[in-house]
Amino acid sequence: MPDVSDSALRVPYSRIRELAEIAMRMDGVLRLYFGESNLPTPEFIKRAAAQALADGFTFYTANAGLPSLRHAIAGQYQHLHQVALDPDKEIVITASGVQALNVAIRTVLDAGDEALILTPAWPNGSAIVQMANATPIHIAQPLVGDRYEIDFDALERAVTRRTRLLIYTSPSNPLGWTATENDQDRLLEFTRRHRLWLLADEVYDRLYYEVPRLGLPAPSILRKATRDDAVMVVHSFSKSYCMTGWRVGWLVGRADVARKAAELNEFIISHAASFAQKAAETALADGEAELQAMLGRLRDNRDFCLAALRSMPGFTVPRPEGAFYLFPRIDGLTDSFGFCRRLLEDTRVGIAPGVAFGAGGEGSVRICYAAERSILEPALERLAGFAERFAASPDLQGTLVG
Ligand SMILES: Cc1ncc(COP(=O)(O)O)c(C=O)c1O
Repeated sequence: MPDVSDSALRVPYSRIRELAEIAMRMDGVLRLYFGESNLPTPEFIKRAAAQALADGFTFYTANAGLPSLRHAIAGQYQHLHQVALDPDKEIVITASGVQALNVAIRTVLDAGDEALILTPAWPNGSAIVQMANATPIHIAQPLVGDRYEIDFDALERAVTRRTRLLIYTSPSNPLGWTATENDQDRLLEFTRRHRLWLLADEVYDRLYYEVPRLGLPAPSILRKATRDDAVMVVHSFSKSYCMTGWRVGWLVGRADVARKAAELNEFIISHAASFAQKAAETALADGEAELQAMLGRLRDNRDFCLAALRSMPGFTVPRPEGAFYLFPRIDGLTDSFGFCRRLLEDTRVGIAPGVAFGAGGEGSVRICYAAERSILEPALERLAGFAERFAASPDLQGTLVG
């Protein structure tokens, strides 16, 4: 019998999914393990999709996506970041953020190459590097005081002849950490000097709270990069507009890489669904009011959960600037998967184990606070009870009984 390829077998399964699959077989679970809100897509976006179907958006589109959507995205960058992009050459619509990540990585890595990845990070970047027969090298972001930082010395030490790419996420999943302007300058200087590609995952840039007015985005690396820099940005409609199931995202890149990425799209997915692209255009045009309202709720949720977690014994919780996650570090925790599984079985609260997020993740857990208060409040209460028991006997984390 022929076997599954070694390259496929090398790609590890997502440990967030592993936990979620246990939870999905159980009733009454308070689900905070996935990165999504439990709110449905706003009605005006659903109506736009129905209208698009009625208007005949049921055919193939260009591999780079509908020109009208690319123009709308270019308009957003001009408006939000004062960055001028050429929608015909520098923007490619993708069938989600994860597909943008996939095609971006596939466009710049050869088999045997190495990609540096700032971690803890959402595991998909690493897995996609492995799917390209390349090697992910995790560079953990140290927690210094109350803030995560970038370990530039470790980055320097990790560069080899085969290093081709550096991937980071800002605002970060799972940290909520957001690159400062100084971080961005140094990342650009580092990748220029070593002649590397720099891939910024900015899918959470609209979910940013450290601003004078909610709605202002976290600054994009595109504000700093020139048009000729080896820089790519991955983005998505999933998080800002509650459109996780729609699968529409985009990639911004230098003209040569964007052209190739659009060509490769043909062999991966061809393009995002036509009517979903049309609905995404409406989300951009008319979505600001809903987004603002969501941001207010998210910031309140963040502050509520932060206070609750900080009062739990042994929990260190940096204050996240963006996205919708908290990533407490827990004293004495060495098996975050065991902790989360036990928490799930004993209390019906589902959160994600830190170990799923690569180097630097073990010893922490991730809580997505995009859920409604009616879910967050009992979930945190039950977690607090569990944390008390864990603090009293951390060696029992695998055998705690309810
Ligand atoms: C950091 C990061 N990048 C990209 C994505 C991809 O989102 P989607 O594929 O739904 O567009 C996610 C989703 O959780 C994410 O957390």
